[in-house]
Amino acid sequence: MKIAVRYYTRGGNTQKLAYAISEAVGVEAKTTAEPLEEDVDVLFIGCSPYAFDVDDNVKKFIEGINVSVGRAVSFGTASVIKTTRKYIEKLLQAKNIPLADEEFICRGSFALLHRGRPNADDCRAAAEFALNIVKEQN
Ligand SMILES: Cc1cc2nc3c(=O)[nH]c(=O)nc-3n(C[C@H](O)[C@H](O)[C@H](O)COP(=O)(O)O)c2cc1C
Repeated sequence: MKIAVRYYTRGGNTQKLAYAISEAVGVEAKTTAEPLEEDVDVLFIGCSPYAFDVDDNVKKFIEGINVSVGRAVSFGTASVIKTTRKYIEKLLQAKNIPLADEEFICRGSFALLHRGRPNADDCRAAAEFALNIVKEQN
């Protein structure tokens, strides 16, 4: 099975999850600056909200996908919200890429909020989440 991991981070929080997922599934985590180069069965896409939306770099990455993607699975960190799916769902739909209902999201530090998050437990949980997705797919 072909898997890709892409993420966007400003402060490093989402990158921590991306690295944990990458180690779990055995695929290098790359930023959204690196387009997909081959068809994949599962695309783990990591993004976090900034003022109630994802960064334009994430949108550009999705809009630029020109390979086949079996399904996308989102993960991310946030200080308040509990999902980022809604910010990327339509863009993926426009590319005929299904977005999994399952999502991994945990608290991410922001100013004085959630110091130290994501922590080691969050990273372990993200890794477990990714492994379950991969198992499901097989
Ligand atoms: C400019 C800015 C705007 C943010 N807006 C939101 C928001 O609308 N909702 C929310 O839950 N978190 C918000 N956050 C918190 C970030 O999503 C959180 O810190 C996240 O972990 C950042 O991930 P990163 O370190 O990978 O960039 C915001 C953070 C920043 C810096």
